Amino acid sequence: MSRRAKITGWGKCVPPVSLSNADLEKLMDTNDEWIVERTGISNRQLSHVENTDLAELAARRALACSGLDASEIDLVVVATCTPEILCPSVAAMVQDRIGAINAGAFDLNAACSGFVYGTSVVAGLIESGFADKVLLIGAEKLHFAMDYRDRGTAILFGDGAGAAVFEPSTDGVGVLAVDLGADGGKGGTMLIRSMGSMGEPQATNDPEIHRLYFEGQAVFKIAVQGISASAKRVLERANLTVDDVDLVIPHQANARIIDSATRRLGIEQSRVFVNIANLGNTAAASIPMAICDALEAGRVSPGDTIVLTAFGGGVTWGSIVLTWGERVEPAGVHVGELPPTDMTSLDLLQDNLRFYAPLHTDKPSVV
Ligand SMILES: CC(C)(COP(=O)(O)OP(=O)(O)OC[C@H]1O[C@@H](n2cnc3c(N)ncnc32)[C@H](O)[C@@H]1OP(=O)(O)O)[C@@H](O)C(=O)NCCC(=O)NCCS
Repeated sequence: MSRRAKITGWGKCVPPVSLSNADLEKLMDTNDEWIVERTGISNRQLSHVENTDLAELAARRALACSGLDASEIDLVVVATCTPEILCPSVAAMVQDRIGAINAGAFDLNAACSGFVYGTSVVAGLIESGFADKVLLIGAEKLHFAMDYRDRGTAILFGDGAGAAVFEPSTDGVGVLAVDLGADGGKGGTMLIRSMGSMGEPQATNDPEIHRLYFEGQAVFKIAVQGISASAKRVLERANLTVDDVDLVIPHQANARIIDSATRRLGIEQSRVFVNIANLGNTAAASIPMAICDALEAGRVSPGDTIVLTAFGGGVTWGSIVLTWGERVEPAGVHVGELPPTDMTSLDLLQDNLRFYAPLHTDKPSVV
């Protein structure tokens, strides 16, 4: 049987500071009822450390779960749109920190579709024999780009990281098919303009350039259509139908997007995994964190057919269909934690609120 890429390890890192809807009510004109009804989100977690710290811990947990040593990994890929610096990559820093001394490393940016794009790259490299054991991480520290007075945007996003170890299989399990797509012409609907080489070489401290901007309703429509069409295509490519699918693990963008997209696909909600309520939208980290939560919740059984599907900035979309292997329990556990903090979300966001204050001269800069 031909070589496929299967997931043998999984791990996540959820940062410890909670930002609830009640906290958001102190920062902007919103309320819990509106947010829950329109998005399904009650809480998000914020990171007091850098993206690479989140990525490293998720990676260590996924490695322990796989039972492999870091020296056995031959490639580290990090999907992210919020690296703390552009060069070196988050992947290279993680490679060094975990001691993956035999691995190559690079970052990949497909925004919220990053983990699906990453899985397709990893699967291709493993199927071709160019790589054997690959660590794929989705990690984001999105709150740095959030203007917490922009109620149409900042309610949605949180920080976090998730990771998966992929190894070759020859028994038919693993990635069966991939569908990737993009429409760069609609890229203006979701933008983070900072961290690029745009303009003259000068320090840019303009909050307007720095913040995440998106057009909520336009994105909503493109996301619903994009996800359902992509998931249909990937199933066709694998000669499967919706009836063959045990679980859909979608990017956690908004509970209503997930609901509408999976209804279009024709799959009932009991076969769709949703964990957005406590984590919000964590972009490239959302699918690998959801994989961990689905396993912990006993929603994945050996041999299950699983669809991963995502939509994000670019705009980009993509879907993967895979067969899960035999193991649904971790082979080992990494016991490390992030450094502790006693900061509240409002403590953590003071600098952020100050930075974006010039965009809202009518509102206080510090809460
Ligand atoms: C952002 C989003 C939740 C807004 O929901 P929506 O149902 O489209 O809401 P609208 O933008 O139509 O706004 C409706 C009203 O609620 C108001 N509103 C917007 N945000 C609000 C908030 N946080 N609290 C209270 N009211 C809010 C608007 O100002 C508007 O009021 P108006 O009718 O008086 O003008 C929704 O468009 C969305 O989730 N889009 C996709 C975003 C996303 O997931 N992007 C990432 C994809 S990877």
